[in-house]
Amino acid sequence: MCGIFGVCGKVFSSSVDQCIAGLKKLEYRGYDSSGIALFDKGAIQVVKSTGKVHHLEEKISHLKSLKTVSIAHTRWATHGGVVEANAHPHVDSENSLALVHNGIIENFFEIKLQLEKKGVLFRSQTDTEVIAHLFTDLYDGDLLGTMQRLLARLDGSFAIACIHKNHPDSLIVTKRDKPLTIAKDATLGQVLVTSDRNALYGGEFLTLDLEDNQVALLDQNAIQLFERDSSKIFPNFEPFTVKDTPHFKGEYSHFMLKEIFEQPSAIRRTLEGRYDLEGNRVLLNLPKAFEETFETVSKIALIGCGTSYHAACIAAHFLEELLGISAEAYIASEYRYRESLSDATTLVIAISQSGETADTIAALREAKKRKAKVLSITNVPYSSIIRDSDFHLMTQAGQEISVCSTKAFTSQLLLLYLLSLQMYQFRNGSLPFENNWIQNLRTLPSLIESLLQRKNLIEAIAAETQGFEKILFIGRQYMYYTALESSLKLKEINYTFSLSYPAGELKHGPLALIDENTLTVALLGNRTTFHKTISNVQEIQARNGKIFAVHQKDQNLDEISPDYSFSIDAPIPEQLLPILYAVALQLYAFYSALKKGHDIDHPKNLAKSVTVE
Ligand code: G6P
Repeated sequence: MCGIFGVCGKVFSSSVDQCIAGLKKLEYRGYDSSGIALFDKGAIQVVKSTGKVHHLEEKISHLKSLKTVSIAHTRWATHGGVVEANAHPHVDSENSLALVHNGIIENFFEIKLQLEKKGVLFRSQTDTEVIAHLFTDLYDGDLLGTMQRLLARLDGSFAIACIHKNHPDSLIVTKRDKPLTIAKDATLGQVLVTSDRNALYGGEFLTLDLEDNQVALLDQNAIQLFERDSSKIFPNFEPFTVKDTPHFKGEYSHFMLKEIFEQPSAIRRTLEGRYDLEGNRVLLNLPKAFEETFETVSKIALIGCGTSYHAACIAAHFLEELLGISAEAYIASEYRYRESLSDATTLVIAISQSGETADTIAALREAKKRKAKVLSITNVPYSSIIRDSDFHLMTQAGQEISVCSTKAFTSQLLLLYLLSLQMYQFRNGSLPFENNWIQNLRTLPSLIESLLQRKNLIEAIAAETQGFEKILFIGRQYMYYTALESSLKLKEINYTFSLSYPAGELKHGPLALIDENTLTVALLGNRTTFHKTISNVQEIQARNGKIFAVHQKDQNLDEISPDYSFSIDAPIPEQLLPILYAVALQLYAFYSALKKGHDIDHPKNLAKSVTVE
């Protein structure tokens, strides 16, 4: 994972300040440790720190006046623990170069053994240090030629930025399967490199996303771009305006809480302009080519990871129900190895908030190799997944900062409902007669608003259920997938061992876990299978398990008298209820974690964008 930020060209203000500002915006990619390398009195200075970027900031105040070529990095540990020695930048034995890396070098061990035979001593456990020593081993005075030879030796995925003491005005970068953007400040001429455009400061830029195996040599005077075979190519920059949107929590204590409360507006924006109320039509403005592709589709595979996978599960169920077409959700890292699942008649819907999740990218590329068409749904423009897809749709959730996804999830669901309805409309000419879908989707923001106003009730339940160390989430059909997502929230920020199970499956194993110390969160939104789920709750109660029921206001719970309950008043089709139940249980996870004093926006061991497979 990790984030790279670099400054070069006509550096006009403290490179340290610029790198720190960039790193802070990249922290969502990993926040185990961070570091910076720059030139000071002709030598390369490297400063690193474990913990968040502000720890690094405190350590480098003595370098603040420098305006030199610099590279910086924020890490999410893959090879080697969270210690300073493993933080980037990494240097070679003579301190003649420093480099930062995002990705994984798959043949690092083999290269390491070769270098050790030549007498190289390694100071870290990372795959990245291998690149630094190999670079020096291959170096012949020519930065570009050395980088080309290095590329030929590396297997795996990477974005690399490197500075060298013999070329103090230059920064050399390359990449394979990981994003790296070069951005030239259109006014000041300064050049930045970054893993993500979101890390740029506000202003007008000319940007270029490096293609795989290209090398760019950046200095005061020029940005030179080369293909793998060393041929020089003209860099095609595109204008890009960045509105500096500082990350403010406003009145909220945490980004997660802010983002939970932003869901009504995120959903309104995602809906905006995408329907015609009077004509009762969905207007997703997909290109004609999509409609033509859809005519040949015999099955739909929805892929994603984490929360996005849960959106895929709900959408698959809805699509199948609505269209009568085979639709399955798959975890992206599994789907990529299921060769028989995609062919030219498959539509793959790739769902990803960030658009950068390595497993999702790998899965969609595999599907494309087998001639499937890919439509992606992302929340971040200019992301890798969009570039790799045949068609794409954007949620309009706005930037999501908290690692734990909330508004991105409900916006994905909203867009997936719209997409399903759009597909129905393609096949049948109009929307289904039953259920006024558009009108029902439009009521969601205000239903969420009413639910959020009752947050104190959920906060109180979170306080009362603090003591439970085993928490089970159950539901059927749509509520089962919602249970998966709700249980994930609790794992992510509350660090609770939590399971989610289809309610009907309990008797085949999980019932053995139930005792008076187990809390079961029963999601009772499904109307068709309500009574069956109630029976499952009673089976838990018969074994002394405690129950937190989340239910519809009009559902009578006298039969079970749950220990805790929260009602949701939502006169809408049950297919749309996952959005409301998810919001209620996001609040539950948030308040539970708050009581435990966890770093909710930056849960331990996790990152927002997971760019390793
Ligand atoms: C990480 C994040 C999750 C997210 C998952 C997939 O694990 O912490 O919140 O759901 O990646 O990310 P994506 O950007 O592809 O939706």
